[in-house]
Amino acid sequence: MRPFMGAGCQFLAVATLGMALGSVALPAAAAEEHPGRVVFVSKGCATCHEERAVLQAPHLSVLRKDRSLFELTAGMWNHAPLMWANLPEPGLKWPRLSSREMAVLGSYLNGSEPKDPPPDRGHGQLVLVSKGCLTCHALGGPRGTAARDLAGKFSLDSDAAWAAAMWNHAPTMIAMAAEKGIAYPSIEWKELVDLVGFLRANDKHR
Ligand code: HEC
Ligand code: HEC
Repeated sequence: MRPFMGAGCQFLAVATLGMALGSVALPAAAAEEHPGRVVFVSKGCATCHEERAVLQAPHLSVLRKDRSLFELTAGMWNHAPLMWANLPEPGLKWPRLSSREMAVLGSYLNGSEPKDPPPDRGHGQLVLVSKGCLTCHALGGPRGTAARDLAGKFSLDSDAAWAAAMWNHAPTMIAMAAEKGIAYPSIEWKELVDLVGFLRANDKHR
């Protein structure tokens, strides 16, 4: 929050600052904020992870560590139900992320950004089945019809685009899973890498 200041008062503050600085140049560190920091604050992550520790959410300093984009995404995916049930302000919308926002959030939180291992697509197919994705989705044929066929016509061309697509559909999935009486599938990092690797290979659009 910006403390309240009348216009005259602001003028005075600026004038005083000018005098105090004299001829000393301003430090270059008045630099721009990291674009991922902007996302972290504007999407409400900071409210729980920095300002208020809602439900003992780990502090930003703990969230920031060396991990790959999908490792981070798995962490986000797994906490989606808890987060959805406890959004800091009532009536808040789900913080959807564009692929660009996902990418910069990753580079803000991920330190040196280690790479994901190459996907094991065979295992990815097993994950798809065992996580119940086909309860709602089809894969190039009849199975779940509640949601789109996962075999194609995605224009998801990067890891960040896939990570964002998974994140953005979490609340729909939470609601539909509750309706159908199935558990929300939590997912480990490597499982997510393999799953997305398999889906990308099956994306007939590419
Ligand atoms: C309503 C409060 C709330 C909001 C908003 C929220 N989180 Fe969380 N987050 C939590 C809590 C509580 C946990 C710990 C419990 C858990 O992991 O289920 C957590 C855990 C996490 C984890 C897993 C912990 C780890 O180090 O792997 C990640 C990653 C994460 N949050 C990222 C985010 C990001 C990114 C946003 C913004 C898009 C966000 N969170 C918004 C409450 C919140
Ligand atoms: C309970 C039903 C349900 C389950 C289970 C489910 N989904 Fe979805 N999924 C949906 C719905 C509904 C949408 C479309 C609405 C949306 O994007 O919010 C969707 C959208 C998606 C999208 C985004 C598509 C796009 O157009 O960007 C992807 C990717 C996806 N699901 C993958 C999965 C994977 C992988 C699993 C298994 C871990 C899974 N889904 C499990 C209901 C489900």
